Amino acid sequence: MSEVCGPADVTQSDRSVPDQSQAPEPAVSPDLRCPSAAQTMTEPISRNDLEMTNVIANPMVTSQPDPATNGSNQQGGSTVSFHNICYTVQLKRDLSCQGRCRRTEREILVDLNGIMKPGLNAILGPTGCGKSSFLDILAARKDPSGLSGEVLIDGAPQPPNFKCLSGYVVQDDVVMGALTVRQNLRFSAALRLPKSVPQREKEARVNHLITELGLAHVADSRVGTELNRGISGGEKKRTSIGMELIMDPAVLFLDEPTTGLDASTACTVLLLLKRMAEKGKTIILSIHQPRYSIYRLFDSLTLMVSGKMVYHGPAQSALVHFNKIGYQCDSNDNPADFFLDVINGNFTAVTSPPVNRREVLDFDAISRARQNIKEHLLTEYIKAEDFSTTKAELERIIKDKATVPRPKSRTVTYNSPFFHQLRWVVWRTLLNLMLQPQIWLAPLGVNIFLSLLVGAVFFGVKDDQSGLQNRTGALFFVTVHQCFSTVAAAELFIKERKLFIHEYISGYYRVSVYFLAKMLSDITLRSIVISVFSCIVYFMIGFKSTPENFSIFLLTLLLVSYTATALTVAVSADQNVVSVANILMSMCFVVMMLFSGLLVNLPSVIVGLSWVKYLSIPRYGFTALKINEFVGLIFCEDTVTHNGTTSSILANCTMSVRGLTCTGEQHLEYQGINYSDWGLWQNHVALMVMTILFQSVAYLKLRFIKKFS
Ligand SMILES: Nc1ncnc2c1ncn2[C@@H]1O[C@H](COP(=O)(O)OP(=O)(O)OP(=O)(O)O)[C@@H](O)[C@H]1O
Ligand SMILES: [Mg+2]
Repeated sequence: MSEVCGPADVTQSDRSVPDQSQAPEPAVSPDLRCPSAAQTMTEPISRNDLEMTNVIANPMVTSQPDPATNGSNQQGGSTVSFHNICYTVQLKRDLSCQGRCRRTEREILVDLNGIMKPGLNAILGPTGCGKSSFLDILAARKDPSGLSGEVLIDGAPQPPNFKCLSGYVVQDDVVMGALTVRQNLRFSAALRLPKSVPQREKEARVNHLITELGLAHVADSRVGTELNRGISGGEKKRTSIGMELIMDPAVLFLDEPTTGLDASTACTVLLLLKRMAEKGKTIILSIHQPRYSIYRLFDSLTLMVSGKMVYHGPAQSALVHFNKIGYQCDSNDNPADFFLDVINGNFTAVTSPPVNRREVLDFDAISRARQNIKEHLLTEYIKAEDFSTTKAELERIIKDKATVPRPKSRTVTYNSPFFHQLRWVVWRTLLNLMLQPQIWLAPLGVNIFLSLLVGAVFFGVKDDQSGLQNRTGALFFVTVHQCFSTVAAAELFIKERKLFIHEYISGYYRVSVYFLAKMLSDITLRSIVISVFSCIVYFMIGFKSTPENFSIFLLTLLLVSYTATALTVAVSADQNVVSVANILMSMCFVVMMLFSGLLVNLPSVIVGLSWVKYLSIPRYGFTALKINEFVGLIFCEDTVTHNGTTSSILANCTMSVRGLTCTGEQHLEYQGINYSDWGLWQNHVALMVMTILFQSVAYLKLRFIKKFS
């Protein structure tokens, strides 16, 4: 590996500038030593050479025909041309302006024109120059507001679902960490290939990709999460690339595929991409500062500075162009470093325009000189031959394109029907849960502990005045506990936001599928935990022991939990930070708790505030649980014994007598609770209506959150 990607073995004589008339052939040396710049720029590489370097770089990679496609019907690459691309963003108004200053705009990309053909196309530039923004625009993943110009694919407007047809590997790998490499690729194959493709063929494609990407030795290893270390960074990157390659896209975009990788791993990834480019794919990648062994793989190079292009053309001609305009690359220097040095005004690399010693220490002078260099580069590029050639080609493309209508909107298209997607997303969500037992073991453990604690505190409630107080306290606690334990649901959609957005815009599944799968898995998990909690609490405390009463108790707690979860999800669906959602939810539940019916006598609350009780989830739960438990109970056993006859006692047993409440019904009446059948079930109806309402809000929020960068 290190032989292939080792430092450039370049001598002074090797670094002669090649003849500009040379054809822009792909440039990888057949020699396993890093070749000289002159060799690199003039010697075309044969397919065998590339495969040989790749096999040596990765012994697991072979060049056998694709079993999934019989090696014959691989999709070729497309030509991506971009015309007058400008992109501006509105900057938020400065608060210090106090409304006096106007909204400011910032130009991110300025009038970009060019063509990316099948091959390895690199976008190079210093940090913040607009590489990622440009890549997003080419891949149709940028918010269209502020964007002008046109991107054509093979001379025709981008299809509205271009995002789903092309591959895009984001900078931070977004793959499900708990799953294995094979399971991730299988998921991608199931949803991104048409349903008509037989399962056997999908499996063959997954296996082939695993071999092709050199992942055979980690195919059944987990990718890795924050808690469990998984495969290496390079293997993860290759898995991300595999997720996109599964559908054999004509164009593959990659945003900084070498970020976070060591030099030799980065080189392996690039060799893999080069090999795909050799097969005719159009690979467009942004890269910050590649080493020479990577730089020499590029077929076309786009150099950017402050959102403008200062070079766009064959990678082999870039040095010639810079030489022509007065910047000579040192023979030992890496061309990529040299370009960045020139762009950044690093004076050791720049021989023209000259700068004297004093200016080197003067920051204003440095800044002025940098600006001059940028302007110089821009003017010179416009005069260059490459620019004229590109311009002529772009004009021809525009002329031929005239008859093709422009699509109106961007859409996401899917390769599989709703239930197929649902089955796979539910499968993945449950598998993710199974493989990370801490996700469900922690709440289960906490609930078992709490149920035992509460069971012990209220153990064996009696039918006397203490029983009245203990029942009320226990029912209040279990209701409020169900509400507060749903606060953790805030991260349901926040934690996986990046993964969801990436998969949704790439056409894996519909928003509704993802939403349903997440809610179904959450509800299943929650129901199991609540059932265990209820069984322990109910029988330890000694609530009414009929199956009917227990069922109503369990149903009420489940409904309270579903409603509170729905509210949490509705509040958090469009949030980006879990802590903000947690604070909001805790505040909501505290207010609701106040109006639950224990802390304040609800009939006595002032009219202006009494409506809040209708929004209180715990009130509905607490009321239903109290009706379920209190109706039919008598709390005056002592008095019965004391006075001798039951009938005389019940007659005396009013709230006014000795300050005691003798029957459950009296207690409920005092609380203003209607304990009829409808009085009980209306609480469940209210909870169900609220659940549907909050779930709808959560779904709509998820549907309409900003999905473009
Ligand atoms: N929505 C936005 N609002 C404000 N500024 C933005 C926005 N999008 C991009 N920018 C700015 O545009 C410039 C280019 O951003 P971009 O992410 O494209 O740069 P980059 O070349 O990819 O940088 P890096 O190499 O660090 O990834 C940056 O200065 C960035 O702050
Ligand atoms: Mg970037």
